[in-house]
Amino acid sequence: MALWSGRFTEGADAFTQQFGASLPVDTRLYAQDIAGSVAHAGMLAAQGIISAEDAAAIAEGLAAIKADIESGALAFDVQQSEDIHMAIESELTARIGDAGARLHTGRSRNDQVATDTRLYAKQRATDLMAANVTLREALMAQAEEHFDVILPGYTHLQHAQPVLLAHHLLAYVHMLARDFQRLAAARDAADACPLGAAALAGTTYPLDRFATAQALGFAHPISNSLDAVSDRDFLLDLIYACSVSCLHLSRLCEELILWSTSEFGFITLSDAYATGSSIMPQKKNPDFAELIRGKSGRVVGDLVALMVTLKSLPLAYNKDLQEDKQGAMDAADTLEDCYVCAAGMIATMTVNADAMAAQAKKGYLAATDVADYLAKKGLPFRRAHEVVGHLVLTCEQRGCDLEDLALADFQAESDLFESDIVECLNLPAIVAARTTYGGTGHDAVRVQLAEAQAALAAD
Ligand code: ARG
Repeated sequence: MALWSGRFTEGADAFTQQFGASLPVDTRLYAQDIAGSVAHAGMLAAQGIISAEDAAAIAEGLAAIKADIESGALAFDVQQSEDIHMAIESELTARIGDAGARLHTGRSRNDQVATDTRLYAKQRATDLMAANVTLREALMAQAEEHFDVILPGYTHLQHAQPVLLAHHLLAYVHMLARDFQRLAAARDAADACPLGAAALAGTTYPLDRFATAQALGFAHPISNSLDAVSDRDFLLDLIYACSVSCLHLSRLCEELILWSTSEFGFITLSDAYATGSSIMPQKKNPDFAELIRGKSGRVVGDLVALMVTLKSLPLAYNKDLQEDKQGAMDAADTLEDCYVCAAGMIATMTVNADAMAAQAKKGYLAATDVADYLAKKGLPFRRAHEVVGHLVLTCEQRGCDLEDLALADFQAESDLFESDIVECLNLPAIVAARTTYGGTGHDAVRVQLAEAQAALAAD
């Protein structure tokens, strides 16, 4: 029998009961729901609204229900209860009688579900922040271990200038550090308590909303009861944070996929993070990197889905809001799995420094530095650019690299060239010379690594 059976003469049809239910999704909120109810009952007793004995019976009954859910002794059925809130309340009343029936005094499922969902969002944001840190640690360990390794830096996926692998990996560490901040902001956005807003307007009972907010670890109660029951911005913030981080992981994984091709050969994924083919015996496929790349699409879909659900929704609670949880849970679960998978993949991959070095020799990566050499000797940079462009053309025609040219070849283009030009063609020297803050020079990257470590220690 439904909790609103007083007003109704007929029970729900089995199909509508199942269609309207959120129980399969919100059963995951049982612990939050019980915590919210214990706080509410304790406050009701402290305010003299229910007796201390009733509050104690409620707390005890809910603790037993929680234990039974966790042991598997208690499971709920959508035909009996639409959602976890009703399922637990009905079970409590069945177990302890009238005390259980008093729990819902001054409360509605509208403030209850918003409270549970906020507790959940805070918890999941915190979990994700921990997983984010683990991935950053894995990237930084590789950056440190292969500190001197040089690879081509790309623009337009064409060889551009040489960079340190550490610098390249640290770029992802920085993206992830910002994702951490976005997750922290999402956690803070959820950190306000709707409990006591009741259905939409507050209640006539002398509730102490500050006490329940504090008991549940919220920063403060939400100051407008209509907003309290209808705001889902905090879930948008969480899914947005998940989406951006998934996009970052998709970029990282795209590079890992490219880097593990025969064409690049920059890395070898460990067998644990690759799969074979059912027909081609030689294959080693980067399935898990591809999956992370692919899952990012679904998470962005979760964000769009909730945005569209919220669009034009009138105040206050509408059943549409029941659609909020599935996508948020999916986004958080997916990102967490992707963090774990990416961390393992990064930690166990083999860096093929020789393949990176061999590619760094191709594509005239020193060209900018040769132009800078002339500019530093007084030739306007645009002219220097043209001179070096000619030298590259000569190399193209001869099928050689800049370092294969003789000093006379250089001097044929400009008499500013002297024998020290060879230093401009040395890749480690080219890299090391980029000493500006944030540059790829070894010293600059050491500073960056120290800063990233400090940020990690603070997070
Ligand atoms: N199952 C509902 C949800 O997830 C709980 C709130 C229902 N409130 C209501 N008035 N129908 O949103």
